Amino acid sequence: MERLDKFLANAKVGTRNEVKKLIRKGLIKVNGNVIKKSDFKLKDTDIVEMNGNIIEKHKLIYIIINKPVGYLSSTYDSHDKYILQLINHKYRDELSIAGRLDKDAHGLLFLTNDGDMIHKIISPKKNIYKTYEVKVNGNITQDKIKKLESGIQLKDFITKPAIVEKIENNLITIKISEGKYHQVKRMMRAVNLEVVDLKRIAIGNLYLPDGLKEGKWMEIEKPNIFDNNSPI
Ligand code: URA
Repeated sequence: MERLDKFLANAKVGTRNEVKKLIRKGLIKVNGNVIKKSDFKLKDTDIVEMNGNIIEKHKLIYIIINKPVGYLSSTYDSHDKYILQLINHKYRDELSIAGRLDKDAHGLLFLTNDGDMIHKIISPKKNIYKTYEVKVNGNITQDKIKKLESGIQLKDFITKPAIVEKIENNLITIKISEGKYHQVKRMMRAVNLEVVDLKRIAIGNLYLPDGLKEGKWMEIEKPNIFDNNSPI
């Protein structure tokens, strides 16, 4: 049950004061009847109209995109290509990005207008594991894997334990629960390797679907990113 004026303001019909005026003027109908009370309580099934146009309820939306290399993980930039240029959605201007990727990295980015969700994902307390596929310029020995897994002293902090799986001599997946600036690249550099390709394949248990091509996005149901957020 939501107040009529709040419903209209959330649906971006106007500010709370503007919509109150529209209601008072008799311009708003609910299920075909003019309603002149701002505190009228709407049921989920009620149909709200203004000038014959149905007003849709404001929704929380969840989007994933397969970020291509060369795009900034930002909602605007005056100089570079940025990720929001690839997304055409009614709520585009409300979207925030939960966890950025470097310009030269690619893979899973998650965007939403659900502020609570963004907050939880980027909170260090939640320890959300991000999974990256990392190609480097040399052999990833067991010794290096051990170092990466047990925590590495970087300039300003010691990394939390990571989980590494070797795929090929120069290719691993790594799960980390932090998201410090250039973290994966810095971890690799600390074991004398350079990253040549960095792709994020998962945030918590939200995986990049195989069929989602680079540069493409899709709207998804609210994901259970925090369920089974265990790397093992
Ligand atoms: N680590 C990096 O170094 N870069 C990213 O974009 C993400 C993690």
